[in-house]
Formats: sequence, structure tokens, C-alpha cells
Amino acid sequence: MFMSKGLEGVVAATTAISCIDGQNGRLFYRGIEINELAERSSFEETTALLWYGRLPTAHQLESFVHKFQANRQIPNEVLALMMAMPKQTSAMEVLRTAVSALSAYDPLEEDNSLEANVQKSIRLTASMPTIVAAWDRIRNGLWPVPPSTELSHAANFLYMLSGKEPDAKAAQVLDTCLILHADHGLNASTFAARITASTLSDLHSAIVSAIGTLKGPLHGGANEQVMRMLLEVGDPDRADQWTRGALAAKKKIMGFGHRVYKADDPRALWLQRLAKELAASSGKSTWYEISERVRALVQEAKPLPVNVDFYSASVYYTLGIPIDLFTPIFAISRTCGWTAHVYEQYSDNRLIRPESEYVGPMDVAYTPVGERT
Ligand SMILES: CC(C)(COP(=O)(O)OP(=O)(O)OC[C@H]1O[C@@H](n2cnc3c(N)ncnc32)[C@H](O)[C@@H]1OP(=O)(O)O)[C@@H](O)C(=O)NCCC(=O)NCCS
Repeated sequence: MFMSKGLEGVVAATTAISCIDGQNGRLFYRGIEINELAERSSFEETTALLWYGRLPTAHQLESFVHKFQANRQIPNEVLALMMAMPKQTSAMEVLRTAVSALSAYDPLEEDNSLEANVQKSIRLTASMPTIVAAWDRIRNGLWPVPPSTELSHAANFLYMLSGKEPDAKAAQVLDTCLILHADHGLNASTFAARITASTLSDLHSAIVSAIGTLKGPLHGGANEQVMRMLLEVGDPDRADQWTRGALAAKKKIMGFGHRVYKADDPRALWLQRLAKELAASSGKSTWYEISERVRALVQEAKPLPVNVDFYSASVYYTLGIPIDLFTPIFAISRTCGWTAHVYEQYSDNRLIRPESEYVGPMDVAYTPVGERT
């Protein structure tokens, strides 16, 4: 029987949502190259593209944006549940728990039709920033800021964090980050969502599976680890020594390596550009400079592509976002990709159920409890 550890090289689904050309470092959403979307689209428009398969007309986009804006409130019961959680709980744990709780308040929870799932996806995608921002306020002893019904998805998140409308540049940078993280083939969290959907379980359960999977440091959790690394290095002058030490100790350096990309991840190159712009406009260039030194040395020593998590760390940090919200921001964006994959899975479903190769003993005699040593 064929066995592939980590399922490397195994094609487990067909998809028309996004396509990665790992050899050439290219990524497409519904056939449109990511660079074009990052330059010209918005997160809301990109979500419509991923869900409906094509760019919306002006009228469709307006109505779609309005639906997002009208569905940002979360039930008071979910807020109360969050308020009851220990203040040191990580934002990813809170997000996973709150999304699970939201299903109890969704009137269409039991309905697995496409129409119901689109409505649930709108509510869920619109609610994710509200949960994350509310948690940051609650744990700091502040009241959550009610969501705006006018701002964009990205601007509203920054608004709910601080209570102040963000400047246009910050909102635009975050919007681009959300576009860049929206979908990425059959990555681990999307696969987890599809596995859950393949049992004909509901949309919320699929997204809860995905959030738990994204949290790990080999996947979405890497962006937080990158920032902790930059803080540990602390100064561009220490970057060489730190990186040589990490390479000599054969440590995994977060933000590098990828199962599919052999060339640099195109999203990382966009984020590099944003990190450079923000460093210049904010006058805080330390994190960008350290990133550049670390990357040069890592790539001189090993042919490892830089991945999406490397530069997003300094971008979010320079925007003033707390480190443990970096992975939740990834989830805020990826929810639109996860939900698109859930629809795709339901539309042509077969239970995802691989096999394992048993390597344990056989025919072991049962020893009664009193005779065990
Ligand atoms: C993303 C990742 C999990 C892919 O894993 P994978 O396809 O299973 O690849 P492996 O972990 O088996 O790595 C293959 C080789 O490259 C090396 N490698 C991979 N990523 C590395 C990294 N970030 N730093 C140093 N070496 C790395 C491994 O040590 C291994 O070397 P070896 O063959 O000499 O043992 C892996 O590259 C990684 O852990 N990266 C850091 C975490 C990260 O940034 N995750 C975000 C991904 S978007």
C-alpha cells in the first residue's frame, strides 16, 4: 500500500478555488493572480470572488459589503461566555470557543443547503473580527467596542481594537493582508475543514476544526513565532550572530520553508513590500531590518523559500497589533477560504477517510487486571 508521511505529494481533492504554482512562486484565486488582487481588490470583493467564482458587479459588491456590515454583532450570550473565560486565555482559544458557541445561536444551524451555508458564512465571516477585538478589550478590562456598520472589514477590526477610526493607510495595509491570506489550496486547516464537512457535519464544526488546526506553529501560528524571534534578536546588529547560531543548532526558523513552494511565496514578497513601506512611514525600521538580515543569512545557507508568515509579523507589529492576535487575523481572513472549500466539499462529497499502516504488535494475550505487573 502507498504511504506518504504528512500526505506529501498526495492529491486528496479537486478544487476550483485557488491554485498554487510552487515551482514559480505564483498563486491564483479563481484564476486571478494574487498580485493583481492585492493591488486592486478589497477583502470583501475577494471573498465574493472565492465564494461565487467570479468578481461581483458593482451592484452585487455593494449589497455584499452591506450584508457584512449588517452582520457584525455577536450575541450577548457569546460575549458573556468570553467574559467568563480566564484573562490569560490565548486569542486563538477564545476564537475557537466563540465560533463553536455561535452555532448555538444561528437559526440555520441544522440547514446544510447552499443557501443556508452562504448566510451562515456571511454571519460567521462578519463576526470573526468582532470576537477577536472584543477579546482584546475584555482581557484588558475594557468594554468591547460595538462594530461599525459603515467601515470596511479591515478598518472595522482596527476600530474595534482601539475605539478610534484607523488612518486610511493602516486600514489599506490590513485589507491587503486579509486578501493575501484568504485561501491557499489544500493547506492543513482547509483540509481539516473539508474532512469535517465530508462527514456531512455542519459549517460551524468545519470552521472550528480549521481554527484548531491553524493555531499550530507549523501553520498559522508561525507568524507569532516570527515576531517572538525578531524581539529576541532585538537589534539588526545582533541578527547575524543569532541566525548563524540558530542554523548551527539546526533550529527551525519560523517563516521559512513550505510544503508546496520551491520559490519564494508571492504573498511574502507582497508583505515584504508592505513591511518596508510601514517601516519608512512609521520611522520604526528595526523589525524590517532584522527580517532582511535574517532572511539573507538563512537563504544563503539553505534553499528555503520565505513564506507568508515571515513579513506579516513585522507588518502587524508595526500597526500596533498585539502578537497573539496575529494568528487570529489569519483566521479572520482564511474563514472565507475555509467556507468556500466547505461548499465545494458538500457539492461533490465523498467521506475523506484515509488508512493507516499498523505497526504495533498482534495477537497479544489479554491479562486480567489482578495478574498485571
Ligand atoms: C512549513 C513546514 C512545516 C513544511 O514542512 P515539510 O514540508 O514537512 O518540510 P520538513 O519540515 O520536512 O523540512 C524539509 C527540510 O527542510 C528543513 N527546513 C524546513 N523548514 C525549515 C525552517 N523553517 N528552518 C530551518 N530548516 C527548515 C528541515 O529541517 C528539513 O531538513 P532535512 O531534510 O535536512 O531534515 C516547515 O518548512 C516548517 O516547519 N517551517 C517553519 C514553520 C513555518 O514557517 N510555518 C508556516 C508555513 S506557511
